[in-house]
Amino acid sequence: MITPQRDNLNKIVILNPKGGCGKSTLVTNIAVCYASRGPAPAVMDFDPQGSTMAWLERRSPERPTIHGIAAYKKSMQATRSWQLRVPNETVNLIVDSPAGINHDDLRELTRDASTILVPVLPSMMDTHAASRIIADLLLVAKINRNERKLAVVANRTRKNTRSLAQLMRFLDSLGIPIVGVLRDSQCYVHAAEEGVGIHEMQPSRVRDDVEQIERIVTWLDGWEQRRQRGIEITNIRRRPLSAAALAR
Ligand SMILES: Nc1ncnc2c1ncn2[C@@H]1O[C@H](COP(=O)(O)OP(=O)(O)O)[C@@H](O)[C@H]1O
Ligand SMILES: [Mg+2]
Repeated sequence: MITPQRDNLNKIVILNPKGGCGKSTLVTNIAVCYASRGPAPAVMDFDPQGSTMAWLERRSPERPTIHGIAAYKKSMQATRSWQLRVPNETVNLIVDSPAGINHDDLRELTRDASTILVPVLPSMMDTHAASRIIADLLLVAKINRNERKLAVVANRTRKNTRSLAQLMRFLDSLGIPIVGVLRDSQCYVHAAEEGVGIHEMQPSRVRDDVEQIERIVTWLDGWEQRRQRGIEITNIRRRPLSAAALAR
C-alpha cells in the first residue's frame, strides 16, 4: 500500500459542492467500468455522508473488486497518509467529494489529480453554482487549463433545454469541455440501491446509459496524453524570448 502521490496513478476527482448533482453516481459507475476491465480500482470517499462507502458495502463480494477508502473518517491512531494509502495494484482512483468545501480543502482534494469532473444539473441555479466552483478551480486550486484536466458532465439532461444551452455557452467561453451527458434514468437509482453499476444491470434496460458512461471513461483514458501535451504547451509559452525574437 502506498500514498496517492504516484506518477502512474490516475486520480479522478468528482467535485461539485452542490448536493444531489450526481457525484456519487459518477464515482460508482466509473469505478464499476474500471473494475470490469481490471486491475481493481479504488474509490476514496471524502463526503461525511459516506454514500459511496455505503454503496460499496452493499456490493456483493462476487462482483469485480473495488477497493474503498473512507477518507472522511479521521483516525487519531494513524497518520493521514497511512489512512489514505492506495493499494499497489490500483491504477485508477476515483475520489468522491463532500458538499460545501472551503478553499484549503479544494486545493488538497485536487492536488495530483489527473482529471477533475464536475457533474452539473442543467438548471439555472445549478449552472450558477457550477460557474462559481469552476472559477474557484481555476483561480484558487490553480488548475492549469492547458492540461485540459477539468471537464463537465451534464447530468439528468432533457434535450434542448434553455439552461443546458446556457451552460454550454458559459463553458465554451472558458474553453472547458462537456465530456459527457447522462440522461435522467431510474436505472441509476436502482443500481445505487443494489451496490452495482449500470454496467452490471440487465443490458436491454441500460443500453443507452452504458453507452453514456463509456463515452466518459473513454475520454478519461486520455489523461496521460492530455497531461503530456499540457506540459509541452506550458513550456512553450513560458520559454523566455530568444534574442532573435526580441530583435524582430
Ligand atoms: N442521471 C440520473 N438519473 C436519475 N437519477 C439520478 C441520476 N443521477 C443521479 N441520480 C440520483 O439522484 C440522487 C443524487 O445523486 P448523487 O449521485 O447521490 O449526488 P451527489 O453525490 O452529488 O449528492 C441519487 O438518488 C441518484 O441515484
Ligand atoms: Mg454523494
